[in-house]
Amino acid sequence: MFARKQIDIGYRDLTAALGYCLWFGFHRRELSTDLESLWSEDDDAVAALSVRTAFDCWLATQNFPRGSEVIVSGINIPDMARILEHHGLHMVPVDVDLHTMEILADEVEDAITPRTRLVLVAHLFGSRMDMEPVFEITRQHPDIVVVEDCAQAFDGCEGYRGDDRSDLSLFSFGAIKTASALGGAMARVRDADVRARMRSMMAEYPAQGRAYFFKRTLKFAALKTLGLNWIYTAFTQACKMFGVDYDLLVVNAVRGFRGDLIPLLRRQPALPQLALLRRRLRQYPRARLDSPSTSRPARESSATYSAPLRRPRQPAQYVVALSCFHREQNRTGNRPARRRL
Ligand SMILES: Cc1ncc(COP(=O)(O)O)c(C=O)c1O
Repeated sequence: MFARKQIDIGYRDLTAALGYCLWFGFHRRELSTDLESLWSEDDDAVAALSVRTAFDCWLATQNFPRGSEVIVSGINIPDMARILEHHGLHMVPVDVDLHTMEILADEVEDAITPRTRLVLVAHLFGSRMDMEPVFEITRQHPDIVVVEDCAQAFDGCEGYRGDDRSDLSLFSFGAIKTASALGGAMARVRDADVRARMRSMMAEYPAQGRAYFFKRTLKFAALKTLGLNWIYTAFTQACKMFGVDYDLLVVNAVRGFRGDLIPLLRRQPALPQLALLRRRLRQYPRARLDSPSTSRPARESSATYSAPLRRPRQPAQYVVALSCFHREQNRTGNRPARRRL
């Protein structure tokens, strides 16, 4: 029995993370500056606890009128929808072509109304869609800004950092992401004012403690070990004997924010968390992303899914883990009528 996911972090990194928890010489400003200069030479990077944290904070700086419409890729994690809802924004989902994982420019154009303020493009399952058609359309609508959700699209330290024309691009280093740092996110924010406001807003958030991060590291070391075939086989058999749904157990164990989402998002990462992210960004080997073949199963490495491809690898496995915004909207009854301009 193979676990359907291997956490993309080694025991050395996990040991280093435990060591960082015991080291009191870190300074937040210094770690953040290091991360931001590692991420971008244009001085436009911001480090955050998660993609969801950075997105929520960026939305707070935008002051879009309540009821503004946001055109979104039709597949994303439900929390991105919840954050938009929290800011009083209406999602207008456009379908994702399940073969290419791209949204169609025509559909984006059809979805634009006088209330549209934002297009949120998600690069899904390690694929990366061509942003040119999106910018061709938004160029005609100066009120509309573009955000790239690249949470699943990290392709190495020298790789893609988001299109320079995007107002915001977001990369995740969460527990189940490529080059996992068990959490953390890097954003590029085009507008210097917005960037400064985000930094000062996030600086007010309460910080996660080193004890929390120590426990989190131990938990993911245990989960990584659980992913070894023979251990996973024994685990699933034991779960079956006791009538426990092992899949649900594992999914719950890796879930990031449990409880009231928005206050949980509004936190600064623990200092050892930032130190681990810096280590990952400095050391993540490009070779991990270049070598795998499409036929490799998921257990090889999560890195398999974020190589700089235009085509997704095994998307069907992942669609179940994400959520379709259409379905989310049925729940909230939140779908606005589309009007052509
Ligand atoms: C497409 C997409 N967007 C956003 C996120 C959120 O990333 P984070 O966990 O850093 O908030 C994820 C994480 O699974 C994701 O897959």
